[in-house]
Amino acid sequence: MTSKFYVTTAIDYPNGAPHMGHAYEKIVADAYARWNRFLGNETHFLTGTDENGQKLIESAKAAGEETAPFVDKQVLKFKELISKLNISNDDFIRTTEKRHADVCTDLWNTLSNGGEIYPGKYSGKYCLACESFYTDLQAPEGICPEHHKPLTLKEEEGYFFKLSNYHTWMVDYLKANPDFVVPKSKYNEILSRLEGESLRDLAISRPNQGWGVPVPNDDKFVMYTWFDALINYYSALNDDQKKFWPASMHVIGKDILWFHAVIWPCMLKAAGLPLPKQVYVHGMILAEDGKKMSKSLGNGVDPMDMVAKYPVESFRYYLLRAISAGSDGAFSEKELVQKHNSELGNDLGNAIMRVVKLSLKIIDPKVDGVDVPEELNFKDTFTRMKTAMEACEHNKALDALWESVNKVNQYVNEKEPWRLKEDPQALKVVVYNCLFGINQVALLISAFMPETAAGLLGPLGVGFTKFEETKFGEVVYNLTNPEPLFPKIEN
Ligand code: MSP
Repeated sequence: MTSKFYVTTAIDYPNGAPHMGHAYEKIVADAYARWNRFLGNETHFLTGTDENGQKLIESAKAAGEETAPFVDKQVLKFKELISKLNISNDDFIRTTEKRHADVCTDLWNTLSNGGEIYPGKYSGKYCLACESFYTDLQAPEGICPEHHKPLTLKEEEGYFFKLSNYHTWMVDYLKANPDFVVPKSKYNEILSRLEGESLRDLAISRPNQGWGVPVPNDDKFVMYTWFDALINYYSALNDDQKKFWPASMHVIGKDILWFHAVIWPCMLKAAGLPLPKQVYVHGMILAEDGKKMSKSLGNGVDPMDMVAKYPVESFRYYLLRAISAGSDGAFSEKELVQKHNSELGNDLGNAIMRVVKLSLKIIDPKVDGVDVPEELNFKDTFTRMKTAMEACEHNKALDALWESVNKVNQYVNEKEPWRLKEDPQALKVVVYNCLFGINQVALLISAFMPETAAGLLGPLGVGFTKFEETKFGEVVYNLTNPEPLFPKIEN
């Protein structure tokens, strides 16, 4: 049965250049999008940029530019990264687009007409970088927990969303939906925070400085950037695409979990819209020294440099396999090179090179499966990968797949086909089993490393097929000489 799968990433602030965290999140979301397409699910994948923040006015000023052209220029960098990473997004939303503002306006009106929004005065401790007020519980020292900078006192008139009304409902919802936030540690964190503090109404407007989505009927104000930003997941869907709502999976980092696991569901509930099925929280990419990447420490790594220096497939593989899903991970260029040379070059690259080259040398390039018993089958690998992906543990899916890659190599080592020149039938059995094994690996790897999948199938002379429909014995291979997929990187 096919079902719908709608996956989103957070939308990035385009103040600066895209960083490793942005690259990682897109690659992770891309793997889930491609995996679902591979399963035959009708998939929609959205990413984009969060452009209405007041911070952008300041960043543009600092660059000596007008806000709109500055943002236009910045967004191109994010689009370029996406293209370099081979991200298969179906759409890219910019929150300065009219389609977004229109939906925000409608949603605001719905909430306002339903009595969920009211005018008032707010005072509290505020972080300009987060564009967010913090309670004493969240920031007892008056220091922003994200940016480690002092908060400033701020009093504002404006509009409020009655978030406080939803406290009990939210707790009950989380209890009834234990998979709403993944991994479990993050779910527990949200639940215990909600059990420890009551929800306060949320200030959802800011004074209008000529940038942002104007509050309907009161353009002294614009919508608070988080309020409009969250709506992107819904506003990006046109009438034909609305069938994808609710989203299946919001892929985000832990620093913005509260907005996605509490504020967004409450907004949707108040508007009478269905809630996303899952919020998947990935870990943070840290510098090699285990610290947060930062300009001042000079320990940052630019993802554009990485894809200029190394094959993008290896970069994707490294991030998806070496960083445990849901955990923080230190990015190490050395480890990336090691994995490229060993797991990709020696394990996977070698498997195909030795089997196809040997076959071309000693048997016909056309290899059929007539009278060949099945000795290598990866149905179990497929099942294990499915389970891992359902649990949002993509690195474990790749672990399972690599067992199969290693099985092909072990099988070749055990059977020693180069000794079977005199026994064409025995040779054919080994070769066909290996080719079918590589064929299965190619299909199963496609969500993670799409070009590698094509690079494996090409020399086998077969196209991309559905896993279950790729039957042992039925596929006929037409071999051609393979190019090395992962030429060794000298370190
Ligand atoms: N604009 C908001 C999100 C609004 S979503 C409605 C935002 N933007 S951001 O550019 O700061 O971050 C975008 C995403 O990148 C977030 O999910 C964030 O957690 C993630 N990451 C930022 N730094 C990261 C790492 N160092 N590692 C992994 N992901 C990180 O927040």
